[in-house]
Amino acid sequence: MANQTLSAYDQIPYLANPLPQTHPSRLAAVASMFALSFAPPKNARVLELGCASGINLLGMAHFMPEAKFVGIDLSIVQIHEAQRRAKAINAENVTFHHMGIEDIDANFGEFDYVLCHGVYSWVPPSTQKAILRICNENLSQDGIGFVSYNVQPGWRIKQIARDVFWALTPPEMPASKRYEYGVAWIKDALEITAKEEQKPLLHQALANEMNSILTQKDIRYLVHEYIEDNNEPLLFREFLSQVSEAGLAYLGDAEPASMVRHLTNPALREFFKTHPATSMAEAEQAIDIIMGRTFRQSLLVKGIRHRQINRALTSAFFKNLHIQARIARKVDENNQVTYTHPRAGQMNAQPPYGTAALDVLAEAFMPTEFRKLADKFTELSQGTDDVFAEILFSLLGAGAIEIFADPYIPELPKGATPLALLDVSSGRNITSNAAGEVIGLDPLQSLILPLLKGDWDREDVISHLAGLYGKGAFNINPVPADNEQMRNLLGNLADKAANALKMMGVVG
Ligand SMILES: C[S@@+](CC[C@H](N)C(=O)[O-])C[C@H]1O[C@@H](n2cnc3c(N)ncnc32)[C@H](O)[C@@H]1O
Repeated sequence: MANQTLSAYDQIPYLANPLPQTHPSRLAAVASMFALSFAPPKNARVLELGCASGINLLGMAHFMPEAKFVGIDLSIVQIHEAQRRAKAINAENVTFHHMGIEDIDANFGEFDYVLCHGVYSWVPPSTQKAILRICNENLSQDGIGFVSYNVQPGWRIKQIARDVFWALTPPEMPASKRYEYGVAWIKDALEITAKEEQKPLLHQALANEMNSILTQKDIRYLVHEYIEDNNEPLLFREFLSQVSEAGLAYLGDAEPASMVRHLTNPALREFFKTHPATSMAEAEQAIDIIMGRTFRQSLLVKGIRHRQINRALTSAFFKNLHIQARIARKVDENNQVTYTHPRAGQMNAQPPYGTAALDVLAEAFMPTEFRKLADKFTELSQGTDDVFAEILFSLLGAGAIEIFADPYIPELPKGATPLALLDVSSGRNITSNAAGEVIGLDPLQSLILPLLKGDWDREDVISHLAGLYGKGAFNINPVPADNEQMRNLLGNLADKAANALKMMGVVG
């Protein structure tokens, strides 16, 4: 039976966001990288343990109507919110249950994907064992489990900031009060001690961590990271031994970049020449130390599949996958082309192959088959499939592309998706698309999106916007001189927003 008393998450619900890295097509892509079979995402059965208010599952359920989703959580407040949201968009392929992870047994059913994000480090060992047991017992033969957790030694550096909250306030004080007191104290400590002109009073490592707390600031995240009773980061090596004790095998990381970095990053390649790693896991453990990684998202399969995992990573695996990139291609007044990626930053590309690859990928807004992209690449550069796959391999290492296996990307009917409409009407400025991406909406897009309902008409949208502008809901720069100019400017804004929202897959 689920604990009937109000849980910490009932008092301060978690900051819920869609979690792209848990999307079945992305998990299946990692299986595909290692030549392992997977259940087709389109009609997969997906279970999320600790689903909070269901934001993640609901996003997936919305775009994959033939798949079945079940979410469970101990917090009744969050489960009620999840049920309310599911009802609001008539999602019939997702159910949410108020229950504990420990209460799930084999009778609960079989699932192709078991997801458990942001729970493992924050629960006692008995619940951790239950999570791994479910990843084995309730997983289908081809199934994949996803478990994320905080890792050492990187987390030890953050631990000092957690210790600050624990040193300042007693555990019996309500979490929100501990948070308020701690943050105010940290702010003063940073500001007042900075006035010391000689050697700074505040220890540098502490000051860095305190500053990072003040910049993150979201109470829902910080409370659970720094004030929650349980937060026991562990070494990757320790996690692997718990996984094997539970009869499971490690498949790989939900962030493919972290598994190929030792092959693509020149400095790491050099390092591993001196300190060769005997397995991918060993290389990953070494990189955790070097880069101070604090969080891991590990994919698990049934132990008997261990021998079927082919670790010979060559770029050939791309040929079975779909690829997506968020590469912005810009041409300046001197015809100079630049490519930038939100994570990888400014990208250098050499003609003909490098530039052709980025030109092709700059159009892959949604997951696109390797075949289609490679054909375009050949058309532009005369390069072969193998050359294209090699370039993709290094882009994967740089975190500049996303990979999917058998993604189900439905043709969207005209207008904003019901999910995006629900998100905006609940005051959220983020939603998700069929690739499981987190789509942030700027204030104008949030204002315009609800006007793009069904078979919307451009003139109607302009008239609505004119009404909102008249009420001072937003500003236009330059201020329009007359009504006609205003309608023209509003029309441009509406077109720009509608195109951007279409490109991001939240408007059909
Ligand atoms: C940090 S939140 C993560 C929520 C969500 N998975 C995400 O990442 O956005 C942890 C969630 O696990 C739930 N939880 C903690 N212990 C649990 C247990 N034993 N059984 C079920 N849910 C639990 C909490 O109520 C909370 O909603």
